[in-house]
Amino acid sequence: MLQQSVRREQEYPQQSSAQHEPWKEKVVYQIFPRSFQDSNGDGSGDLPGIVSRLDYIRSIGVDTIWLSPVYESPRVDQGYDIRNHREIDPLMGTMEDWEELLREMHARGMDLWMDLVLNHTSDQHRWFRQSRSSTDNPYRDYYIWRPAEPGGEPPNNWTSYLGGSAWEYDEATGEYYLRLYNKRQPDLNWDNPKVREEIQGLVRYWLDKGVDGFRLDAINVVSKDHRLPDTDESKLEGSGYKHFKNDPHVHQYLRELNEKGFSHKEGTVTVGEASMVSMEDVARYTDPDRKELSMIFMMESPSIGTDPNDSFKEREWKLPELKEIVARWEKELLNRGWFGLFASNHDHPRMVSSFGHDGKYRVESAKMLATLVHTLWGTPFIYQGEEIGMTNSPFESVDQLDDQMALHYYDSRTKRGEDAKEVESRVLAGTRDHARTPMQWTDEEQAGFTSGEAKPWMPVNPNYRGINVQAQENDPDSILNYYRKLIALRREHADVIVHGEYASLLEEHEQVFAYVRRNEQRQGLMLLNFSEKEAEFELPEDIGVCLESAYRLLGNYPAEEGAEEADMGKDSLSRTKGNVVPHVLRPYEALIIGGLKPAP
Ligand code: NOJ
Repeated sequence: MLQQSVRREQEYPQQSSAQHEPWKEKVVYQIFPRSFQDSNGDGSGDLPGIVSRLDYIRSIGVDTIWLSPVYESPRVDQGYDIRNHREIDPLMGTMEDWEELLREMHARGMDLWMDLVLNHTSDQHRWFRQSRSSTDNPYRDYYIWRPAEPGGEPPNNWTSYLGGSAWEYDEATGEYYLRLYNKRQPDLNWDNPKVREEIQGLVRYWLDKGVDGFRLDAINVVSKDHRLPDTDESKLEGSGYKHFKNDPHVHQYLRELNEKGFSHKEGTVTVGEASMVSMEDVARYTDPDRKELSMIFMMESPSIGTDPNDSFKEREWKLPELKEIVARWEKELLNRGWFGLFASNHDHPRMVSSFGHDGKYRVESAKMLATLVHTLWGTPFIYQGEEIGMTNSPFESVDQLDDQMALHYYDSRTKRGEDAKEVESRVLAGTRDHARTPMQWTDEEQAGFTSGEAKPWMPVNPNYRGINVQAQENDPDSILNYYRKLIALRREHADVIVHGEYASLLEEHEQVFAYVRRNEQRQGLMLLNFSEKEAEFELPEDIGVCLESAYRLLGNYPAEEGAEEADMGKDSLSRTKGNVVPHVLRPYEALIIGGLKPAP
């Protein structure tokens, strides 16, 4: 079907001549290295394992890899607690292995973006060991130390993302240090120019080694209001954010990091992790004239199903809310910012389990969700395993978990007297470990993730015999092959899908997500059914797409007219426009329709 549409496409006008930065057309694949591919049989994924799978990654159509941390680390937080920013963790391999990875990626025309964790370090980092050793150590001011309040209380009432005070008392010098995450992840003091110089040096170090970009962890919390005021929020986890998120100084520090770090190598691309941002904040971080970051992630949509005051509590949501978020970002940031789009990563349960249907409609819904992420304005990110529709794992007890956030949450909530069974079921549903089970390559023992005697560090999801890469390679209608078509389509129609405007339709419809992407000459119409029921809809008369000349580009149900008619009932054809735009979408159906704009 795609090929047919490609042929027809040649009859349509050429792409617009507008100049666009080439990096905006990238499609990124995120690797969580410990769970990707083990090469030495120790049960943990590693760098040589990734090298052995590069042809696979390239075959999806991806041109960039974001590699979650591989630096030396005690792994309290799976590498987001760095002990040495300039060395590779032996669990992952050696610096030579890393260099080989980079060489092999560049040989295949792929870019490597490293994950930089700059808000905090491990408590075992050389800087922190010095810092905590005495109040007059030259490294003392690399971190945020304060004396206790009279009575021994912490300096303010902020709470950490793991629950409890954000301050940790250190016996050795009798002061508190700030740590927004684990007590073993002390926050760096970005107000200290020496810290910023160290960070700039790290960025240049990796650029000199040849990396092409960075993902910047928790970047909008690095600068705290130096007065450290109490907060009036009462969240149990992460309260105080008004005083440490998007602080005005963060922009000054990022411009400096850009000038003395990122600009060291031309073409460096940066993506910041920054939650709770206004559209103005996003524009400030990513407006190219301000020279801060290339983009930040749109984190609002993947968190739509989570209670903002309690990260393990589910929240009821309706489709119009998701459409509102997407439309706001798409419209308000056009021509003044850029962002990354994702529906899953290592911090969220699996996409198809959260937003689709991981039973009967797993295949359809995984394809439908992919269609959304890859046809919006912004850079799409795929998280390992998403491209084969990997699902959440059937965890039965907190004892099976490694996720420090889940475990701390369980501990602190049960200590406060909340019902243990209820807390456990919340934690088992929301844990990040769903995303961290090993990649499912084959239907062989341990899903082809490891061949050794050692058990995988995290148990393989038992559904690997049915859900694995090998099976999907051989099936032309697999989720994997749909991703390939979708990415090829995005590249071919980059003038519209990457760079065109966004216009929302049917904003109040509770099942159908419909929108148009367009430039001066051409448009694409996307129709997505977000439910397991058939969805009827009526497009408004003037949607700016000439439906008579519209043609189907891609869909997740068979394209043959006969098949459509049979599935949709006898009168289906009378309910189509131009024969390609139906009035009913089947469960989780996704359709991409191309067309010409009617003459004014
Ligand atoms: C965000 C990372 O994605 C997450 O995995 C980590 O736990 C925190 N930042 C702390 O670094």
